[in-house]
Amino acid sequence: MSPSLVTMSYIAASSLFILSLSGLSHQETARRGNYYGMAGMALAIFATIVSDAVTSYSILIVALLSGGLIGTRAALKVEMTQMPELVAIMHSLVGMAAVLVGYANFFDHSSSLVGIEKTIHEVEIYIGILIGAITFSGSVIAFGKLRGRISGRPVLLPGRHGINLALLVAVIFLGYEFVLASQAGAGEWPLALMTLIALIFGIHMVMAIGGADMPIVVSMLNSYSGWAAAATGFMLSNDLLIVTGALVGSSGAILSYIMCRAMNRNFLSVISGGFGSSGGGGAAEIKGDIVSIQVNEVVPMLRDAQNIMIIPGYGMAVAQAQHAVYELAKQLLKQNKTIRFAIHPVAGRMPGHMNVLLAEAKVAYDIVYEMDEVNEDFPNVDVTIVIGANDIVNPSALDDPNSPIAGMPVLQCWKGHNTIVLKRSMATGYAGIGNPLFVHENTRMLFGDANDSLQSVLKELQAS
Ligand code: TAP
Repeated sequence: MSPSLVTMSYIAASSLFILSLSGLSHQETARRGNYYGMAGMALAIFATIVSDAVTSYSILIVALLSGGLIGTRAALKVEMTQMPELVAIMHSLVGMAAVLVGYANFFDHSSSLVGIEKTIHEVEIYIGILIGAITFSGSVIAFGKLRGRISGRPVLLPGRHGINLALLVAVIFLGYEFVLASQAGAGEWPLALMTLIALIFGIHMVMAIGGADMPIVVSMLNSYSGWAAAATGFMLSNDLLIVTGALVGSSGAILSYIMCRAMNRNFLSVISGGFGSSGGGGAAEIKGDIVSIQVNEVVPMLRDAQNIMIIPGYGMAVAQAQHAVYELAKQLLKQNKTIRFAIHPVAGRMPGHMNVLLAEAKVAYDIVYEMDEVNEDFPNVDVTIVIGANDIVNPSALDDPNSPIAGMPVLQCWKGHNTIVLKRSMATGYAGIGNPLFVHENTRMLFGDANDSLQSVLKELQAS
């Protein structure tokens, strides 16, 4: 294919990616957005395969087949609850690719660049490897934390801001040394040392982040992976990779910013990796009596209620209870009750997790509300049903300045008349802290798997 045709295909693919992002911003258009993205990626791969950039088709076919097989297997096997881990490990691959491409470029002496152009190319390599290595090690730690292989508790080294600053100064100094040395055809040592520092920084940054703050770090690593891809694009002089990387990088950065605002965290301290230690004194102990309730007691409460709020959390995803929730909502709507779903921005384990599950179960979008749209309205709610949610309804975020989640906005369901919490035990949520909501005077605990409990409630409700 001629270079101009390849360029045109790249422009078309970039446009499809932009359309994809805009489609993904609304639930109604998300499916179409996915199709645009798939078409854009297919076009990008096709144009790259037929371009002059490919020098060995055998390597390309092996890479395409093995990558395609691994990707297909992972996508088919992964459970909805494991999606964030998959995303984290995918980010680590993007980071690793940037590091490998950077080193391949560095050791490739066939380039005819000289003077300022050569220096610019060396800087591209240095920055690409730097971002790639941070993304790689940070994403591996994030994967471990999300999977529960590494504790969600923040590991806070004494003087960690000083350590971060020292690492930054070392990276700048090594960059200077690298550019100087590479003019003379050397530079391996500064590059290798910087890679090591970047790997350590990635680990240090994510280890320092507390459980409840993980959503921010996942979207931030998403952004880093975009910038790593853009840097790879510069190294390979591939315009499409630059544009796509910049799209992922900037949309990830915007998402991180939105997440920070939603969780009342400081964006700049997130970028520098120095956050997640809010409070740190440990949450206050939960004092009070737990009042449990049986299915047959829930039904009259629902029958008498007019205004019902449903708060889904990670436990709904684990129990795969979204279909039962939909059936229950349908039954209650038939009885002319007001049913609303309240979605916390970090409910579950990935942005939009609850929205995806509710959409899958065909819950109508117009009864699904963002936290800010309904939080003021809880005093008017007769019954709130909390389905496998914990941290996002924890009043200590507002009442206890020592809580690790202090300052995070939460759904204030305890202000309503009655709250029914569906969970299996008194176990903590992702942040690993007790929840005073469970001993609140208006709260009743319905213990058991959320799906089983909802099925039983539905059966009783239909029979009554
Ligand atoms: P969590 O605080 O993690 O609480 C989930 C609760 O669900 C647990 O207390 C658990 O209690 C219950 N549960 C688990 N399986 C269940 C089942 N089969 N049936 C009934 N209940 C079940 O969830 P949340 O309230 O949604 O808060 C999300 C947390 O994850 C926040 O801390 C957030 O910061 C963090 N996080 C979010 C994201 C994103 S982007 N959303 C990413 C990473 C981390 P039992 O074991 O007693 O049943």
